[in-house]
Amino acid sequence: MEILNGFEPTSIEKAVELLRRGDVVAFPTETVYGLGADALNPYGVAKIFEIKKRPRFDPLIVHIGEKDWIFKFAENIPPETTRLIDKFWPGPLTIILNKKDVIPDIVTAGLPTMGMRMPSHPVALNLIRALRNPIAAPSANPFGYMSPTKATHVAKMFENELSLILDGGSSTFGIESTIISIKENKIYIRRHGAVSLEELSEIAEVIHEEKKDDQCGVPGELPYHYAPHKPLRIVSFPGEVKIANSSLLAFKKTEKTPLSKYVKYLSQRGDMREAAANFFSYLIELDREDVDIIYAEKIPEVGLGKAMMERLKKAAKNVGR
Ligand code: TXA
Ligand code: MG
Repeated sequence: MEILNGFEPTSIEKAVELLRRGDVVAFPTETVYGLGADALNPYGVAKIFEIKKRPRFDPLIVHIGEKDWIFKFAENIPPETTRLIDKFWPGPLTIILNKKDVIPDIVTAGLPTMGMRMPSHPVALNLIRALRNPIAAPSANPFGYMSPTKATHVAKMFENELSLILDGGSSTFGIESTIISIKENKIYIRRHGAVSLEELSEIAEVIHEEKKDDQCGVPGELPYHYAPHKPLRIVSFPGEVKIANSSLLAFKKTEKTPLSKYVKYLSQRGDMREAAANFFSYLIELDREDVDIIYAEKIPEVGLGKAMMERLKKAAKNVGR
């Protein structure tokens, strides 16, 4: 693993090269360090989850390099957004917006919305601008750990998993961005963070509802998981499928043609990262009006397979909603 001075143009070049190849690079932001991948490369984004060892997929924040990139990647932008980004961008405010189709589904864990922000850290901005694509990034800590604010923290946490960390010094805020959504001229705080409620109140009425336990498990998290409309059943192998008017999410290529009307193979060769990169978009595609049920083949619960199975089990519980 290499730690390079992020203020050096050659370090940025090297990082961009890795990101273009679908690799993950740790980089500094003004809040905390992030584990970044090219947001438009689902394979690279899958690698983030692999490295972070999250037991499930959480939607990631999309980091942009210029304010007007918002129009390229978001749609139905609420009018208050203009004043918010004039005041707080670049900076630690993440706004939940409807995503355009160019943002892969794995970035948002199947949600139609995404969290977007333009960071102010010069290394982060240089990196995003040099890549010329947004960077999807969670905080650079393994699941369940605290967010790192120094390159050395990240190095310790991911000694073997990362090839490059850009060092940009200590993060000035040291806490994560504030996450908000906007509805009917009101600002809803989804996660408290580096921008305060008082500062936001200068723009519009701010609402912060304490979330109930059944709505979200962990503070700062939303009941955001995409659930298919059709009932979903997990099968051990494609041969178990008995209803032809169905779709099937198969893990890898099988010899016999399955019975289902629509079949998608997550990865022909059984590669977990490729499977994860396809997972949400395939599930959304298979959730069709003209089928009675979605079957999903069991995925080996190793690496990203765990996160995928967690999603499938949750979706299978929704049967009979
Ligand atoms: O300061 C920060 O926000 C840092 C730096 C790297 O930018 N990032 C960060 O990411 O804290 P992460 O993944 O650790 O936390 C982002 C949280 C998710 O856990 C989720 O709660 C929320 O953002 N989030 C992202 N997209 C969302 C969406 N579409 N709807 C609701 N919540 C979303
Ligand atoms: Mg985090």
